[in-house]
Amino acid sequence: MLTGIIGGSGLAELDGLTITHREVMRTQYGEPSGALTFGQLCGRDVVFMNRHGPAHTIPPHRVNYRANLLSLKQAGASQVIAVNAVGGISSTLQPVDLVIPDQIIDYTYSREHTFFDSEHEPVRHIDFSYPFSESLRTTIIETASACKIEVIAGGTYAATQGPRFETAAEIDRMERDGATIVGMTGMPEAVLARELDLGYCMIAVVSNPAAGRSGSEISVEDIMSNLHAGMARVRDLFEEVIPVL
Ligand code: HPA
Repeated sequence: MLTGIIGGSGLAELDGLTITHREVMRTQYGEPSGALTFGQLCGRDVVFMNRHGPAHTIPPHRVNYRANLLSLKQAGASQVIAVNAVGGISSTLQPVDLVIPDQIIDYTYSREHTFFDSEHEPVRHIDFSYPFSESLRTTIIETASACKIEVIAGGTYAATQGPRFETAAEIDRMERDGATIVGMTGMPEAVLARELDLGYCMIAVVSNPAAGRSGSEISVEDIMSNLHAGMARVRDLFEEVIPVL
């Protein structure tokens, strides 16, 4: 079984990956964010995709999510673990916490969000009641618990358009809606994975308190330094989870 890993801000490369080859895939939806990197991580075959491109130049609203997901599918991946930086909305969340969300609220707009948009095929609707693969979530949560790596088992991911951060009032509204974390890349990535029948789950790394939650401005420098520490925790988690996938 081939596992796709999509890295976001702070995870441009996968440490510990024994690289076998790289491949630039082309799809009918255009070019993905960059070449796919194939190799072994902790003894398992994985294929890695860097969501924001090799030089981190692709902003969240310009990521070609359809090409990214389709190229992973074409490469033979059957499941995908996405790593996403998020702001913490819940007051209980701190930077560097790892959250395995179980729900999504989509506030994005104007993104290519479906493969099912042809006028020449029957209309298709998919079930998305539970947007993440429960079996992948359970594997991650149970493995983390057995290895004493603390993760927050559940949460609602608010997907925002970006690239700006949110206003404090927007975050208040998202909290009233039930969101606990906020990020800019979870949608349409999750739904496109579902349309392709790829099991998909997210490891969300809290990089900052969301807007209006800390009494100070959101600082990209703080985010980057928190992500550096957070990604070390993601790597520890991968070392335990990847072998049992
Ligand atoms: N908002 C949206 N996306 C983010 C944030 C945030 O506060 N932090 C990291 N990605």
